[in-house]
Amino acid sequence: MNDFILNNLKKLKKNKIPNPEIDLRILLNYSKKFKNEIILSNFNINKINLKKFNMMLSRRLANEPISKIINKKSFWKDDFYVDKFVLDPRPETETIIDESLKIFCNKKNNLKILDIGTGSGAIAISLAREFENADILAIDISEDAIKIANKNITDKKLHNQIKLKKTTINDINEKFDLIVSNPPYLATKELENISLEIRNFEPFVSLDGGEDGLNFYREFAKKIPKIMKSNAYFIIEIGAKQYDDCREIFSVSSLKFQKKTQDLQKKDRIIVFSKL
Ligand SMILES: C[S@@+](CC[C@H](N)C(=O)[O-])C[C@H]1O[C@@H](n2cnc3c(N)ncnc32)[C@H](O)[C@@H]1O
Repeated sequence: MNDFILNNLKKLKKNKIPNPEIDLRILLNYSKKFKNEIILSNFNINKINLKKFNMMLSRRLANEPISKIINKKSFWKDDFYVDKFVLDPRPETETIIDESLKIFCNKKNNLKILDIGTGSGAIAISLAREFENADILAIDISEDAIKIANKNITDKKLHNQIKLKKTTINDINEKFDLIVSNPPYLATKELENISLEIRNFEPFVSLDGGEDGLNFYREFAKKIPKIMKSNAYFIIEIGAKQYDDCREIFSVSSLKFQKKTQDLQKKDRIIVFSKL
């Protein structure tokens, strides 16, 4: 293999970047001068904009996730614009869409949906794609996140279905058929020990769930039943070790537990509640 490729792979490996071959290929392709896909085995340096490549490589060597460098992350059936102002949408969160589809089998339903802490807008947009007549309100406390969600909604021409609002659930008084949320759920202490990729490159406001990580669930247990229609559902993501605590927190609410689902590591990550 070409020395340029070998040297750069060496740099990535030295900095303990997982999957260096995959990342190198992505960075080369995002700095290519021509249309053709760049392949490591027959690489030629004239095919790339070297300055652009070196800038992107130095960001990756500093542990910045590829998604933040190329401003793109896939979720459900779409690619989303992401940057330092929004959490990268993650595969475990896709289960929220999956569970919504199991509950509301008629995709033509005129559902009223609330997405709390929308971030990039990934959940709201994916639900809008699946439920074409849904009327969705997506809220976030972060002005910067709202701007990114707005960009993604505009790119996908979904403004007719999704309204954005910079607010918290305290200001929400309408009633919904479906409420979804992937709230911040890390305990403040956990934030000190998470990977550099998360600690340095994901927004703090998207991670911090208070001292024990459970603040949002306590708030939800009080407020959510009041903003659900009589046969509505509530689907939330939780941290990998929060299932028992969350069940206890919600046991004092009027919500009825329906089911939990696990991620690929067999951790309980999604809980479904209903009003009735
Ligand atoms: C874990 S991220 C989830 C982002 C996106 N929904 C996803 O699943 O990829 C949590 C989001 O909640 C927002 N947030 C934090 N505190 C909030 C609050 N009190 N009210 C509404 N949104 C809040 C953050 O700005 C962040 O965008």
